Amino acid sequence: STPIKSSAASDVYKRQIMQTKMREEFAKIFGEGREPEFYFAPGRVNLIGEHTDYNGGHVFPCALSIGTYALARKNDCGKMRFYSLNFTRFGMLAVEGPANEFTNVPADNWCNYPKGVMWAYTQKGYTIDSGLDILYYGNIPNGSGLSSSASIEVATAVILNDQFGFDVDMVEVSKICQFSENKFNGVNCGIMDQFAIAMGKAGHAIFLDTADLSYTYAPLELTGAKIVIACSNKKRGLADSKYNERRNQCETALAQLQAVKPINSLGELTEEEFDAIADTITDPVNRKRAKHAVYENQRTIRAVEALKNNDIALFGKLMNESHVSLRDDYEVTGIELDTLAETAWEQPGVIGSRMTGAGFGGCTVSIVEDDKIDAFIENVGNVYKDKIGYAADFYVVTVGDGAHKM
Ligand code: GLA
Repeated sequence: STPIKSSAASDVYKRQIMQTKMREEFAKIFGEGREPEFYFAPGRVNLIGEHTDYNGGHVFPCALSIGTYALARKNDCGKMRFYSLNFTRFGMLAVEGPANEFTNVPADNWCNYPKGVMWAYTQKGYTIDSGLDILYYGNIPNGSGLSSSASIEVATAVILNDQFGFDVDMVEVSKICQFSENKFNGVNCGIMDQFAIAMGKAGHAIFLDTADLSYTYAPLELTGAKIVIACSNKKRGLADSKYNERRNQCETALAQLQAVKPINSLGELTEEEFDAIADTITDPVNRKRAKHAVYENQRTIRAVEALKNNDIALFGKLMNESHVSLRDDYEVTGIELDTLAETAWEQPGVIGSRMTGAGFGGCTVSIVEDDKIDAFIENVGNVYKDKIGYAADFYVVTVGDGAHKM
């Protein structure tokens, strides 16, 4: 596997070529006419705070410079017409309106994400009174756990706001997109992905309290080190149903705790408070799940404090502890992610490494000293391929801005 490295100059160049190519494709697919407009929504990576966002806890994600590009313009046929350069085999999908009657049709595949956002806007009272032609192109590896689907959702929301003049701020955008994923796509996800993608800021991570959506931007000054993503390339088969199952387990545990303590979420408890009443949770599996949610939230608060104090070593140590908790208590890692993280821990120059996102496949995120990155990629890559049988992909991360019109 080849590490993807790029300079700012080559990135700009690549983006220009891509934009020109997208305009040509747009004209070929939807016909000549008024110039369509350009939009972008990033992917995201979470540094720490995993499976806390539906437990009223904290998360610490950042937006990536890779993401979803989209070209859009209103049409006169009244239909929503979608095309993705990543899924050319599906061709162009034309959906007859009105958007408030859209339903999730499995055959529509990836289009259920933009359709869902349009439907969600109508549920929130917005009127979509024209068809749109939208061409998407994404450079987030698909199904990698870097939120390619939330990126498509938020890109679609930015298009709707701009094309129809909706006055919806970006926090509301993230809520509408989460609503669409929950109600239209059937995944009971929290707010983290959509929030990070809508609200990201170059060079910063977002410290978000999911209990009340208060947030601060923390500069990512990793002096002499970079964020490296390792993508396991594991197919994420039953991830959605296992995700929903974890969420239900946390809810069951919370309900039992509420019988002895007046709390609204697991995120309200310190480790000590949890330990004192943990026995109330009758099922040992649910008890472990809740323990992770409580401990991970406290770990996240501590990690952000460490970063503020320039204590990168402590930040890294907390990342490693997060992985152990996700492996042993939350049980969402699996041999692929464990191999990536545990091999990373043994490499020189690795400050911390953990799985990121929902788990069950997907990626790890590591902080690696600059001059050790090449060796890191080679060594972890080799061990992974030997043990798992196929290669992982590595990306050195640039932290970019949230979704916007270009
Ligand atoms: C997925 C969900 C998020 C969050 C993470 C786990 O990415 O979409 O809401 O729950 O998993 O932290």
